[in-house]
Amino acid sequence: NIYGPSRKNSKGINLAVLGELVPFQAQLDQFARTVWTAAPLINGKSRREGTPQSVAVPHRLGEQVGHVYWATPDQAAEALDVAAGGFKRWNETAAELRAQCLERFADLLEQHTPELIAICCREAGKTLQDGIDEIREAVDFCRFYANQAREKFGDVTVLPGPTGESNELYLEGRGVFFCISPWNFPLAIFTGQIMAALAAGNSVIAKPAEQTSLVASRAVELMLEAGFPASAIQLLPGDGATLGKVITGDERCVGVAFTGSSATARIINRQLAAREGIIPQLIAETGGQNAMIVDSTALPEQVIRDVVQSAFASAGQRCSALRVLYLQRDVADRMEEVLAGAMAELQVGDPARHSTDVGPVIDSDALGLLEAHARDLRSGFRLIAKAPAPSEAKGYFMAPVAYEISSMRDLKQENFGPVLHVVRYDSDQLDAVINEINAAGFGLTLGIHSRSESTAAYIERRVKVGNTYVNRNQIGAVVGVQPFGGRGLSGTGPKAGGPHYILRFGTERTRTINT
Ligand code: SER
Repeated sequence: NIYGPSRKNSKGINLAVLGELVPFQAQLDQFARTVWTAAPLINGKSRREGTPQSVAVPHRLGEQVGHVYWATPDQAAEALDVAAGGFKRWNETAAELRAQCLERFADLLEQHTPELIAICCREAGKTLQDGIDEIREAVDFCRFYANQAREKFGDVTVLPGPTGESNELYLEGRGVFFCISPWNFPLAIFTGQIMAALAAGNSVIAKPAEQTSLVASRAVELMLEAGFPASAIQLLPGDGATLGKVITGDERCVGVAFTGSSATARIINRQLAAREGIIPQLIAETGGQNAMIVDSTALPEQVIRDVVQSAFASAGQRCSALRVLYLQRDVADRMEEVLAGAMAELQVGDPARHSTDVGPVIDSDALGLLEAHARDLRSGFRLIAKAPAPSEAKGYFMAPVAYEISSMRDLKQENFGPVLHVVRYDSDQLDAVINEINAAGFGLTLGIHSRSESTAAYIERRVKVGNTYVNRNQIGAVVGVQPFGGRGLSGTGPKAGGPHYILRFGTERTRTINT
């Protein structure tokens, strides 16, 4: 069993069960007015130096959820010194002991679930369900990579040879890993990158997205409480360009795990390539122009339930989210009618409210880009449906919209929010649809809705993506079950939550002894 005997996924909280919802909401209420602080954590010391930036609540403009002291370039250099020193000790710590730290951290995440969800909600605008999923995924990453560390970094592999020599293969950490995480999964992806790197024996410098330092900082405090050495994990909240240049430019940084835009991944790649000395490892998970193909055999109610979840859950701010829905022309009118009906039921508003389906987008820049895109669509294409306006006015809300466009080629870039584009195709155009999706160059998720197994298999083989989902939604990959990651413009390929991910963070060695 490659997942280890004790692997199990985190249970989470079932909001549909009143007995779970009511106590959970009471626990959340305790944090309704908490103000959190984040600061660089270097060698276990919180560096509250200079003037902090205040952190806004995306759904209550004017309200603040905390303060962040941004790291300076000097602090980044200091973090590198500590991490470089910390690597040796941590790499020599037995994989079993490292795995136990990951498991203790998973337990602490579960114990602090209400506080962490409260931060995710107020700092990142996450709905309650998104918050629960966030903690579950983070916990799953810890337990999964703990088992992976034991299995892959624990024992040597003895390789029998014809020579009478003793041959052994083993894995160890590479050095200092720089983990740069996005705001859309401020705890789950932050945790996943760091835990994989630490499990493999690396030390880590973590740089959370500028918008979500508070939850990251709380997580690193819990990592230290779980027993990770202070020299193994350094936190640098702050400006990506400034801090990134210091870390990626330093020869002690042996690898970067990055999740974010393709454009930023390219900048990091150039910075790493411009260095003298070793060629560092880059693990990048970037965007998607994700499609779903629906043929005339599919069931409209099932399709539209999955479309609405895939396109509008998390306000469409998932790299896995559905952007372009291809409907076979024979059923397109009916599908669009059901889609409009479903969108009319969506509740946009305060993410802390149990009934909310769609919370805010992350900030004013994001909202501005989405609104500009919606304006462009309005001037050239037909509106299929628009969800009702948000229940609150003072926030970065965008009511989900769906437009019919003529082709994926009409889209110039990924639009990271609740905007769905629909394209009609004829039954003899399936190959053209497949070519169009592949030609866009992304390769993250694909949805297929068809009751014809051969059609689904035909499409699955030809559309070049990392994750295909048939007759279900195309978001929410489960750790250990649906390893997640794409190809082409969507990333360098490693699949988070899969059995090969941790190998990218390690280095292989062989030892041959003439006995
Ligand atoms: N892993 C997330 C999902 O599958 C996206 O980052 O939705």
